[in-house]
Amino acid sequence: MNVLIIGSGGREYSIGLALKKDDNVQKIYFAPGNGATDVLGENLAISNFNDLADFVEANQIELTIVGPEAPLVEGIVDVFKERGLTIFGPTSKAAQLEGSKIFMKNFLARHNVPTAKYIETDSLEDAYSFINTLEAPIVVKADGLCGGKGVIIAQSHDEAKKAAGEMLSGNSFGEAGTSIVVEEFLDGYELSVFAICDGKNYVVLPAAQDHKRLLNNDEGPNTGGMGAYAPTPLVNDDIYRKLNERVIEPTLKGMESEGMPFTGVLFIGVMVVKGEPIILEYNVRFGDPECEELMPLLKSPASELFYKAATGDLKSAKIEFHDKYAVGVVMASKDYPYKSTPAAEIIVDDIHHDELEGNAHISYAGVSRGEDGKLYAIGGRVLVCVGLGESIKEAQKRAYMLVGQVHFAGKQCRTDIAYQAL
Ligand code: AMP
Ligand code: GLY
Repeated sequence: MNVLIIGSGGREYSIGLALKKDDNVQKIYFAPGNGATDVLGENLAISNFNDLADFVEANQIELTIVGPEAPLVEGIVDVFKERGLTIFGPTSKAAQLEGSKIFMKNFLARHNVPTAKYIETDSLEDAYSFINTLEAPIVVKADGLCGGKGVIIAQSHDEAKKAAGEMLSGNSFGEAGTSIVVEEFLDGYELSVFAICDGKNYVVLPAAQDHKRLLNNDEGPNTGGMGAYAPTPLVNDDIYRKLNERVIEPTLKGMESEGMPFTGVLFIGVMVVKGEPIILEYNVRFGDPECEELMPLLKSPASELFYKAATGDLKSAKIEFHDKYAVGVVMASKDYPYKSTPAAEIIVDDIHHDELEGNAHISYAGVSRGEDGKLYAIGGRVLVCVGLGESIKEAQKRAYMLVGQVHFAGKQCRTDIAYQAL
């Protein structure tokens, strides 16, 4: 089949890489793709949803996979479904699980899914009173999509009140912050759990752990993610069972009963507190960089997983994973996450290592191809070096061997990805 992937990041590159290895897939298109996806398929400069659907019809594309949240929230799936096209991802209504933190928190409460104690409000007075009932640290969140930046962990009551005031006045996040969630701080360790859903049935992928802070030892500012690994030994059968029974199943049933069955990736941000999984948030797409580690662990054909989920047929799929570990190290531009960085040529050493053969690769993200045919880092998270191995240690070693072969001016990366597992 021919497949279209919507998005331009390392996440979409890694989905493309998995489809490239899949004998069922002929041609891959990316809209818009990045400076390296043109090696895996063809980049399309089309963004309007109806124009994309026209292209899909004209080019016999049997499956469209949506990477990022924005087109989902904006209704790309609704447009494609209306036209009878097969697309993997939730409708705009179902995407509210990520698009609105208030919708998500109220949904979790309605269906008894464990989450932090909270209030949602647009009143500063109510926010202040609730803040007074909590112990610091206190978490204040803007309602809408803020590119992962709308969460403040306030270390004192005063700081929490200040954050709430700035959000509600529209000063910090504009419209996205005109309503807020204030919630208790959960003290535990964080997991990224992904369930591929077809509306009723689901497949849980190996649990991952992301490293959101810029610097080693989880210091420095929050980022989109500086590296991840999977499967993490911090999860066991008991936690998986609780996630299935208390979280995923009530969520799928609840979404169906509320008239918006959930198809796509349910990305569950979990805090494990004293052995109990508590939900921090939902996203309705793969994590980036988690996807870059999960795709290479998939043993079954990627097209089968996505196509069967998109067509409500996951029950008939037997999805298998390699019995291996994957570690991904993000290499970012000099000024990430503060500001953009001028373009810098990327050079990958042309050195052959037997050990890396088939056990390490690059997923490209913030890159463009120059007129000279060379690849340039264009800011943000530039690429992810992924290592695979029989142990986390081995996968980590291979990922960092590959990091050592990649050069561009101002490159930065953490040197401790997967440390919590070692
Ligand atoms: P969110 O966008 O809601 O996932 O929040 C971003 C990050 O803030 C999460 O990945 C957590 O690290 C942290 N966070 C959010 N809510 C809480 C909470 N209630 N307790 C502790 N940490 C939190
Ligand atoms: N890596 C976390 C995210 O994609 O939101």
